[in-house]
Formats: sequence, structure tokens, C-alpha cells
Amino acid sequence: MNNAGAGIAITGCGSAAPKAILTNEHLARIVETSDDWISSRTGMKRRHIANNTESLSKLSAIACQQAISMAGITPTDIDLIILATSTPDDLFGSASNIQALIGANRAVAFDLTAACSGFVFALITATQFIHTGVYRNALVIGADVLSRWVDWNDRNTCVLFGDGAGAVVCQAIPEGDRLLGFSMYSDGSKNGCLNLSYQSQSQPLVADLTTQSGTYQPITMNGKEVYRFAVDKVPEAIGKAMFHANLTSADIDWLLLHQANQRIMDAVAKRLKIPRSKILSNISEYGNTSAASIPLALDEAVRQGRVKPGDTIAASGFGAGLTWSSAIFKWG
Ligand code: UT7
Repeated sequence: MNNAGAGIAITGCGSAAPKAILTNEHLARIVETSDDWISSRTGMKRRHIANNTESLSKLSAIACQQAISMAGITPTDIDLIILATSTPDDLFGSASNIQALIGANRAVAFDLTAACSGFVFALITATQFIHTGVYRNALVIGADVLSRWVDWNDRNTCVLFGDGAGAVVCQAIPEGDRLLGFSMYSDGSKNGCLNLSYQSQSQPLVADLTTQSGTYQPITMNGKEVYRFAVDKVPEAIGKAMFHANLTSADIDWLLLHQANQRIMDAVAKRLKIPRSKILSNISEYGNTSAASIPLALDEAVRQGRVKPGDTIAASGFGAGLTWSSAIFKWG
């Protein structure tokens, strides 16, 4: 089992999105907004919304099966499953359920929460297990069903989010390492900018002992603050990862950013002096799918033949926490 010092390769990807589509025109019937406002401010046109039979685990399982098949391995080859999500079907975690759904009987499975940075955090975490020789084959999933937690009366947030799942297979390779560099950051002092937080309510239990019976409250966001943070910090995080990888912007074939806002993606590309044509974007179709957005955009680009084996990809996730991160890797 021990393959210490092994490199990693990302050899398969997959994705899934719910069937139902919510357009900007639909949203204009729910809150005071317009296709023009949403399109020009965010680049979003549609988002996919899960119904009550399309669970996060089921969407993730489809994405995993595709990724495993592309990698040319079987579910029982998987040693490790990390599910990045903020919206598990079960607060105790959904990774084990996905393990069972896909029949990855040998794998250990756990959830990781880092909001929209979750996929890149999970990818980097999985690669550490492979680099140290503990595991050979890992599944990294980014999935979210944020529509469950949207306040449909709040036009500041309800127009932004959609649901989906994406997954990649990371494998040990004997020579070379196709993860070229990475960086990860958190700044909890800005935690109040973006929340889906539990609000407790005191409930008398016995005598003078009370317990709490609260619930999670819908998403709140200071959009402007998060926008400024993203445009400032994401180029820095990618710059750091490029430095570790001994690369410059000219070496990057594709910029694969969390799909939060087309204007953020354009601004980051501009700061890094990377042409807009190298941005992988599917935000118009899916909106912001949180932890799913990066593997969803990657999978689409791979299956369209845009991203080819050997291409160098600079990925970056950013969001609640606040958290942000970057991973630079060669595809395939
Ligand atoms: O995934 C986690 C990371 N998330 C992000 O990175 C999101 C970062 N933030 C953003 O992408 C942008 O800040 C938003 C898309 C959320 C908002 O765009 P903005 O250009 O920053 O707009 P704003 O919040 O400054 O609002 C401008 C105006 C306001 O009206 P007034 O005060 O100027 O009269 C808003 O009330 O637009 C209004 N507004 C809307 N109007 C129509 C806000 N939401 C809407 C809406 N439709 N949906």
C-alpha cells in the first residue's frame, strides 16, 4: 500500500445537475428583478434546482460514477472519498451514503466543509494522503444544494444560487506530480460577510436547565464586500500557487474559478494578465453552485474537448469563512 513520494494525477471527472431549470424570467416573477440586471451584474441566465427526489447524495453518486468510469477503474479501487459540501442530506455527513450508493466498499469517506472553497480544499487534502503513500485512489466531490437554504424573498441572494455536483478521481502515479502548486487561506474576522448560520432558541428542559431548539437561517451575504475580497485575494492565491509551481501566467492554459460572478472571473483574469478566452465559465447555465461549481465547469470543458490531457489549469475557490484557495494542476 505504501507509495510514499508518489505524484498525483487527476484522471477522471464527472458531474450532475438537477433537471428543473429556473430562469432569470422566472425569478423576475418571484422578486423585483430583471433578466437585464441579473445577466449584466452576474453573467447568470439559468440555474438548476433540485426537487425532493434529487438528493445531494444521488447527484454526487452520478458524478462519481462518471469520474470512476473515465479514470478506467472500479468503485472498489477507491481508497478515500472526500465530499466537499455545506448542504449535506444529513448533518452527520453524506460521504458515507455516497460510498454505499456507488459501491466503493473499501473506501473511507468523510465530509469537508469550506463553502465555495470546499472543492479545492478537498482536492488538496486528498492529494496529501496520496503523496504520503497512505492511499492510491481518491474521489473528490464538490456538491451543494443551496436552493434549500435560499430566502426566496431576498433578491440580493436568491438570484445567485443553483444546485449541482461534480467529482474527480485522483490517482497515485510513480513519477512526476501533476499537482504543481497550491495555496489555502482563511480569514474568520470576515465571517459575517456570508452566512448560513444556526440560530438557537432557548427551550426549557427540566428545572432551571434549558436546551436549544433552533434551526439554520437562510443565506445572508454582503455581496459588495465578498466581491471586493474575491477580486483582491484570488489573484494573490493563484500567484502564490504559480510561484510554488515555478510558473508564470503565460504557462496557464485555463483559468478555472469558482463560478460566483462573471465579472469576478473577468477581473481576476485581467489582474493575472490571462486572456479572457482562457476562462472556463458555465455560470450562465448553472449560476453559483458553491462547492460544485469548479468540478462542474471542469467536467463540461473536458467532455467538450476544450481541456486536453497535459493542459495546465489554475483553479481557485473562494467564499464563506471567508476562505480562498488555489490549485494548479495538469489535466489527465
Ligand atoms: O459563492 C460565494 C462567493 N460569492 C460571491 O463572490 C458574490 C460576490 N458578490 C457579487 O457577485 C455581487 O456583489 C452581487 C452580484 C451579489 C451584487 O452585485 P453588485 O453590483 O455588487 O450590486 P449591489 O449589491 O451593489 O446592488 C446594486 C443595486 C442595489 O440598489 P441601490 O441600492 O443601488 O438602489 C440593490 O438593491 O442593485 C440592487 N439589487 C438588485 N436589483 C435587481 C440587488 N439585487 C438585485 C436584483 N435585481 N436581484
